[in-house]
Amino acid sequence: MTKHQPIRLAVFASGNGSNFEAVAQSIQKGEVDGELALLVCDQPGAFVLTRAEKLGVPAVTFTPKTFESKADYEREVLAHLEEAKVDLIVLAGYMRIVGKTLLKAYPERIINIHPSLLPSYPGRQGIVDAFMDKVEQTGVTVHLVDEGVDTGPVLAQETVAIEPDDTIDSLERKIHAVEHELFPKVIQKVIKKLQKEHV
Ligand code: GAR
Repeated sequence: MTKHQPIRLAVFASGNGSNFEAVAQSIQKGEVDGELALLVCDQPGAFVLTRAEKLGVPAVTFTPKTFESKADYEREVLAHLEEAKVDLIVLAGYMRIVGKTLLKAYPERIINIHPSLLPSYPGRQGIVDAFMDKVEQTGVTVHLVDEGVDTGPVLAQETVAIEPDDTIDSLERKIHAVEHELFPKVIQKVIKKLQKEHV
């Protein structure tokens, strides 16, 4: 049997990093057959960096506004990805639109998790927007990233009911619980597909 090359992942995150941790733990448990090569963080001081240190995941932090352009910023990120031999980029609460430089370098190899049933409620506040709209259900979407805001082919979706006694906090907890289960499963599927293509 052919031994698959390990697929090397970079997780991009901007904040708390609970999804980063869920992915890292799934890899450590062997449920996701990849190597976590790098955390890319665009917010110095974000809690995700503390999580990465605890989990022993190498991290790089950027301050994008100190670059002259998005392309300059992404070229610098790309240099780190290439050095770490990254095959697949996973956006886990990365609150920035991915630009042409990274999209071109990683075609169909950037996936994102979003806390709504896309195309409903894209953007930075998917949970709050659905809650305020008083809809009966929302959910979680994992999709391939293109040049739009939370657009691109959907890989998986899971519904979350909004009950009459839900608050924004309780809804957020329910959504995160679904995300932490769904994201590693979809990443594993994408890895399997990439491994087949590599053979
Ligand atoms: C997650 O709910 C993720 O779906 C969302 O940010 C949160 C990050 O949480 N992403 C977006 O809204 C992207 N548009 P975490 O830092 O605890 O993983």
